[in-house]
Amino acid sequence: MSGSSKDFGLSPTGCPLSREATEFDIFEGPYQVDPAEALRWSRDREPVFYNPRLGYWIVTRYDDVKAVFRDNILFSPSIALEKITPAPPEAMEVLKSYGYAMDRTMVNEDEPAHMERRRVLMDSFLPEALERHQEDVRRLTREYMDRFIDRGEVDLVNEMFWDIPLIVALHFLGVSGEDREKLRAFSVAHTVNTWGRPSPEEQVKVAVSVGKFWQTAMGILERMRQDPSGDGWMHYTIRQHLKYPDVVPESYLKSMMMAILSAAHETTSNATANMFKLLLSDREVWQDLCENPDLIPNAVEECLRLSGSIIAWRRLATDDTRVGDVDIPKGSKLLIVMTSANHDERHFENPDEIDLYRDNTSEHLSFGYGSHQCMGKNIARMEMRIFLEEFVKRLPHLELVPDQSFSYLPNTSFRGPKSLWARWDPAQNPEKQDPAILDQHRHFKIGAPAKNEVVRQVRVGEAHEESEGVKRFVLEHLHGRDLPGWTPGAHIDLIAGGFDRKYSLCGDPSDHKHYEVAILREDEGRGGSIYFHDHIAPGDTVSIIGPKNHFRLDEKASSYLLIAGGIGITPIMAMADRLKALGKDYQLHYAGRALDHMSFIDRLKQTHGARLHLYARDLGRRLDLANLTADLPAGQKIYACGPGRMLEALEEMSAAWPDHTLNYEHFSSVETTLDPSKEHDFDVTLADSGVDVHVRSDQTLLQALREAGVDVSSDCEEGLCGACEVQVLDGDIDHRDKVLSKSERMRGDRIISCCSRARGGKLVLRL
Ligand code: FES
Repeated sequence: MSGSSKDFGLSPTGCPLSREATEFDIFEGPYQVDPAEALRWSRDREPVFYNPRLGYWIVTRYDDVKAVFRDNILFSPSIALEKITPAPPEAMEVLKSYGYAMDRTMVNEDEPAHMERRRVLMDSFLPEALERHQEDVRRLTREYMDRFIDRGEVDLVNEMFWDIPLIVALHFLGVSGEDREKLRAFSVAHTVNTWGRPSPEEQVKVAVSVGKFWQTAMGILERMRQDPSGDGWMHYTIRQHLKYPDVVPESYLKSMMMAILSAAHETTSNATANMFKLLLSDREVWQDLCENPDLIPNAVEECLRLSGSIIAWRRLATDDTRVGDVDIPKGSKLLIVMTSANHDERHFENPDEIDLYRDNTSEHLSFGYGSHQCMGKNIARMEMRIFLEEFVKRLPHLELVPDQSFSYLPNTSFRGPKSLWARWDPAQNPEKQDPAILDQHRHFKIGAPAKNEVVRQVRVGEAHEESEGVKRFVLEHLHGRDLPGWTPGAHIDLIAGGFDRKYSLCGDPSDHKHYEVAILREDEGRGGSIYFHDHIAPGDTVSIIGPKNHFRLDEKASSYLLIAGGIGITPIMAMADRLKALGKDYQLHYAGRALDHMSFIDRLKQTHGARLHLYARDLGRRLDLANLTADLPAGQKIYACGPGRMLEALEEMSAAWPDHTLNYEHFSSVETTLDPSKEHDFDVTLADSGVDVHVRSDQTLLQALREAGVDVSSDCEEGLCGACEVQVLDGDIDHRDKVLSKSERMRGDRIISCCSRARGGKLVLRL
């Protein structure tokens, strides 16, 4: 921390507060201009801090935010709709006079009530039920665009992006005949009332609007209750209330009626406006999208990641606990800032850049995570995709009106510009030349885009023999543009000739024009490396996925031991370069079977001098791992990459070292194809949600969970990255991954769900 108790006071746990933590004002200044940027200092130096102005602990890193979302028992959602600025007595009186009785809805209900209710109300949100809304959204989008297509200028927010999500929401809910302008004004008042900092005078005015909103919502509910057989989710909820009055009580019906009228459209409206603002601000990106509309689902996720409309959410600690390295006392209020998490470089490579090809973009936390994840996420995705598709088709020449200023409603959690002016030359509208384009459109599958479907095309710039059996390839953008940045330890998937293989990047991360990979020809392998060696030549176009990084370098350690075996030098070399640039204390040990089979020797000698230690077996030098690691200084980290037997030996030794001393990466799993004849079925119980899932012998645990509608993130799906880890409360695990260490396996409290299974018939998971 950069301050002292004398200067800036103490947190509730008695720790000195820093200047930044004390002075951070969520309602004014940088957070309201650019919330993710405003918290960069926190992600870098103080990822969990107490803010005395707000009286909340603020959580800003990806892993911490996700961990809080994940545990809805320890971190109760009960304060999610609490007024963040307490109302003065006059405002409370006003609310009372309208009979305002906002209580539990889906977002602020604790377990077990929450999941019981979610289960009986979820059907309308499932992908098959949403399919039928697609055509309505497309029809509305066309009709609204027709109104301004020949005009040449429009305020997208006020002439389209508010209206359509609201119409869709009302239709989805089964509400008809309401004054949309009035509902929009009510929604704004609800946001200010719950998440804003109105002055005492404004509080009274806002309370009047919120009171009227409540009465309007109650009127709608009463009308719907007169004929509960109607269409839409609210009619369905009323029917479920009649069937299960304990699970869906009267108070829930009322509170949900008001909350959903606002929540069902405001977030989509704002997210859409943010998306167009972001995409139109980068001409190259917009152009890419116009040329390749298949990128639309990924573009939507990337916009939700970079500029989502729900930027922060709240939780209450129900017991003494820790978030990251910080003690959090029972009863503490937490503001978890998803937009900051979405910009965390520890999870996303070049987090501040928009990359339409980013393969893990849908891991953003803009919809929350875990059992409280936004139920309407797939409706929002569907609308945003259709908007984008119709615009790139009908107005590819659209641009933002220059020099406009954007204003936002000051509050902690919801964000979208109040207006967004765009312009174009109507004479250039493509449909004037080719009216047939109006009838052409894609069908995007409801739900998050599938991983590994979005591949980037690159050109092979150079191919060189690097050493005996190793070829180095230099890749570049097809149009000579910059490629996304990367950090040491990152890899790409190289795809060509029907092969898809992962290779570490080994060039210079500051060179944004090129990626470099070095490929060992494996004559006994599965054919990929041989194909790449024999068939890829300068000028060829190949596909890649990534870069992504599952082997990150912790730059805060006191010293480093870097160990490479054979072609494992590629990520290790990038790490050594980085440590040298940082002025860190490191030693690099590189072993191979013969000197002329070892790559980059000259470059390594030149860059790392006496820190480089070479072990070439043909010269009689062998790497003695036991000796090398016999006396590790405190705080030293080991990063290793190389043959399986080298990593296994290190892992054996690591049992005696402090946790996280050894860091290594495997590029190939033992076996990823399931052989149902050798597997058995098993059952899992999800303790947090009370759901039982059966896992068949022909499917992975991850697949079974997803089939049951449970969101579990994943990446490699080969047991290599750890993204799909789930906590285990009971049952024997058959570990098959390459992620968990021996001691982690012994503890038996985590499973890598894409490959590991139950040893017996049952597992209990914390989900
Ligand atoms: Fe990578 Fe499971 S998704 S280990």
